[in-house]
Amino acid sequence: MMCKSNTDLQTIVDEVRSISEAGKVADYIPALSKADKNDLSIAIYDKNNTCVYAGEYTKKFTLQSISKVLILALALQDRGTDYVFGKVGMEPTGDPFNSISKLETSIPSKPLNPMINAGALAVTSMIVGKSEEEKWERMLQFVRCLVKNDEISYNVEVAKSELETASLNRALCYFMKQHQVIDGDIEELMRLYTKQCAIEMNCFELARIGAVFASNGLDPETGEQLIPIHIARICKTFMVTCGMYNASGEFAIKVGIPAKSGVSGGILGIVPDKYGIGIFGPSLDEKGNSIAGIKLLEILANKYNFSIF
Ligand code: DON
Repeated sequence: MMCKSNTDLQTIVDEVRSISEAGKVADYIPALSKADKNDLSIAIYDKNNTCVYAGEYTKKFTLQSISKVLILALALQDRGTDYVFGKVGMEPTGDPFNSISKLETSIPSKPLNPMINAGALAVTSMIVGKSEEEKWERMLQFVRCLVKNDEISYNVEVAKSELETASLNRALCYFMKQHQVIDGDIEELMRLYTKQCAIEMNCFELARIGAVFASNGLDPETGEQLIPIHIARICKTFMVTCGMYNASGEFAIKVGIPAKSGVSGGILGIVPDKYGIGIFGPSLDEKGNSIAGIKLLEILANKYNFSIF
């Protein structure tokens, strides 16, 4: 399937591109600091299998936190909702994505939701497989299947860069191990998590994943059920309540769609029953969301009445 350039969309992209000047690219994962601040691309994938784009849409980026939604969908299929939510909560947090503070205040200790790092690390630890290799194969294969592209892989340099610097995420893991939220080898978990965060694709491929969620788990081309309906629904609900971290409330007011951001500058947006949206704009606001990406979504939501509310 080809994605077509769209002049209306390109006009909006050209209008908001300069906003990127006000933000900055993530640098706490050293390899991410090489991103070009002014990149901005968007693809909108219709559930009837057509697609439009604007900007440098073939440019690849790593999913980072967007992977949390996808791996949650897999873990829910692997373990069922009772098991997953026995260990990870469903409530939004007003804290930054990597915060450790709430882990100690809830008793028994339980990460508040699967979209913050603590919850996402716990979810990754639930992926089924006899070995680390098998777990990773299953995670990657699931993402490949959502994109319908077996060439999807991960950025080795970004994964390594995060693995070498992720002291805070390691601390979250050790805290959760002590409190029986997770078990198993922490370094194995860190390797799996940093690889999942480093899975790479362009905004068209991300938009296709959005289209799967927009159609309640159905592949927009083949009609195959790639994600069970109830799991697609859970993922979209978390995206509304927690997908943009501690900016989720404002985003729900201003845009009003399920969305998930990552510190690489990607945003996965879903207009239920209509479109999947993939955005890449690496310049971030102070909460870690793509500054131009959010602006793009605000403009589009107003113009095309995207809000689900
Ligand atoms: O765990 C981390 O810190 C990164 N791999 C992902 C964080 C992230 O994308 C948060 N996004 N806004």
